[in-house]
Amino acid sequence: MKLCVIIPLCALITLTQQAPTQDQCLCDLTNSEKAFPHDKLSTVEDNASKCNSNITPKKTLELESLMLGLERRLPQMEKDLSVLEREDDGELYGVLSLLVIENELTEIKQLMDKLNMTSRRHQHLTTDTTEQLEDLRVKMAELQEYDTLQVVKRQQANQRLKRDLDQCKNEHHPTPHPTQPPQGICPHGRFLNITGPRIYTAGEYPGSYMYGAWGRDPKPEVGKENWYWLVMLTSSNIYANYVRLYSSLSSLIVGVSGPGNIEIHSSNPTTNTIQGPNVGLYGGALYYNCYNKYDVCRFNLTTKTVTTLQLPEGTRFTASKTPFNNCVKMLRSLLFIYLFIYHSCICLCIYFRHNSKGNFCNLDACYSYTDLDLATDESGVWVIYTTTQDFGNLVLSKVEEGEPPTLNQTWYTSVYKQAVTNTFMACGVLYATRHVSKEVEEIFYSFDTSTEVEKFNIGIFIKKMSPNIYSLNYSPVDQMLHAYCNSYMVSYKMLFG
Ligand SMILES: *[C@@H]1O[C@H](CO)[C@@H](O)[C@H](O)[C@H]1NC(C)=O
Ligand SMILES: *[C@@H]1O[C@H](CO)[C@@H](O)[C@H](O)[C@H]1NC(C)=O
Ligand SMILES: *[C@@H]1O[C@H](CO)[C@@H](O)[C@H](O)[C@H]1NC(C)=O
Ligand SMILES: *[C@@H]1O[C@H](CO)[C@@H](O)[C@H](O)[C@H]1NC(C)=O
Repeated sequence: MKLCVIIPLCALITLTQQAPTQDQCLCDLTNSEKAFPHDKLSTVEDNASKCNSNITPKKTLELESLMLGLERRLPQMEKDLSVLEREDDGELYGVLSLLVIENELTEIKQLMDKLNMTSRRHQHLTTDTTEQLEDLRVKMAELQEYDTLQVVKRQQANQRLKRDLDQCKNEHHPTPHPTQPPQGICPHGRFLNITGPRIYTAGEYPGSYMYGAWGRDPKPEVGKENWYWLVMLTSSNIYANYVRLYSSLSSLIVGVSGPGNIEIHSSNPTTNTIQGPNVGLYGGALYYNCYNKYDVCRFNLTTKTVTTLQLPEGTRFTASKTPFNNCVKMLRSLLFIYLFIYHSCICLCIYFRHNSKGNFCNLDACYSYTDLDLATDESGVWVIYTTTQDFGNLVLSKVEEGEPPTLNQTWYTSVYKQAVTNTFMACGVLYATRHVSKEVEEIFYSFDTSTEVEKFNIGIFIKKMSPNIYSLNYSPVDQMLHAYCNSYMVSYKMLFG
């Protein structure tokens, strides 16, 4: 009777009945399947992740940047050649044009050599990777044979079904596209998305200067339409005393500066030195935060003169720690203690007023000396800052180019400056970014100066090549967004529509 109960339980496996003793039944389990090769799977996994780490987005970008440089360089060359053809009576002008073309040829040759080197390196990488991938594919196919219960196959089929179902659902309930008001003066339409990076380069001084800015003049002087500018904070990661110019994108990438440096002053820092990375070039003049002041400085690159524009009283800025300042601070501390005993309320007010700083920040830290952000777009120059009376929220003012420059209309936003990592202007709209992760920055906020509409849900993501973006500059000429990140120059294409 007992035997009858036990046998059905053991029916699925080979059963060898041992001499039954009293109440015991013993079963021998013989598994006809092969054991799953776990170590083989883990080496395949290791190899796959090795393969992954070999091909970084940086590598694929290198070639693309160089090609883009060349693409921009060739039409310029063609144009110069046609100029030369027109000057067929020889003599002085012909000789000058020949020199220009000779220089261009040298630059193009350098670019081609770099391209050659990079593409050969990539060829090796591609061959190696293809072999590795084929090897991995074969190994995975072998491993799949162990899937006798067809778990993986069913999962794949389920995923396919789920995808089809989602597609079906979406077709029946198309997501409504919100209608957008036309955006003021913008010739390209509404800012929709960002792609890239298109350019990624270490430039002429790889890894030397962590902070800086670069871009293109939106209103260039005649003959300088293809020029790029670069400002690096060469002293204490805070100050710069010159603008470096490049006659083309390719010369910036290859690191050959024809026009060279235009110096504000031989000392760094001194009065009117560039303080902080958020500078911008417009109409042949550099706009920036002047050394130790809450002023905008304008450096005319032609006349090499500086004019200043004072921002409203209460603008937050970072004063440098000179010995004099330390002394003042010490006296202030003594005063602080004195007042604390007798008038603690007044004391707190004084303390907070003098502690005013208005930097951009990510979750962990603030970016020092970013109190003033100078931005340029289709419509000119803008300054983004914050004041004590606006409780640290972003304030945006239009800078008029006159002689001297003046402050025009001002807009007050409701976004806290320290919750923002950087800002830029495009088509009269202010955009602000925030840090999402080491790899991603989000353009989350916009303020349209023509409608005064504020939005906190922009949700456009920037793929970063380095953890921190220290400056952003929009170029209306080609709708590129130029970023300076941990000593790298990176560009993104902004899509409008
Ligand atoms: C992993 O890679 C090594 C070296 O590339 C190779 O010898 C080995 O066969 C690979 N193993 C698997 C399981 O793909
Ligand atoms: C690329 O480099 C190789 C090796 O240095 C050289 O043989 C070849 O001619 C180069 N190709 C071009 C187009 O410069
Ligand atoms: C924006 O572009 C990214 C990358 O090109 C893409 O993944 C994303 O879906 C796009 N977003 C929209 C809203 O089109
Ligand atoms: C720079 O100075 C020159 C000469 O005075 C002037 O013509 C030009 O407009 C100035 N540029 C700016 C941007 O102020």
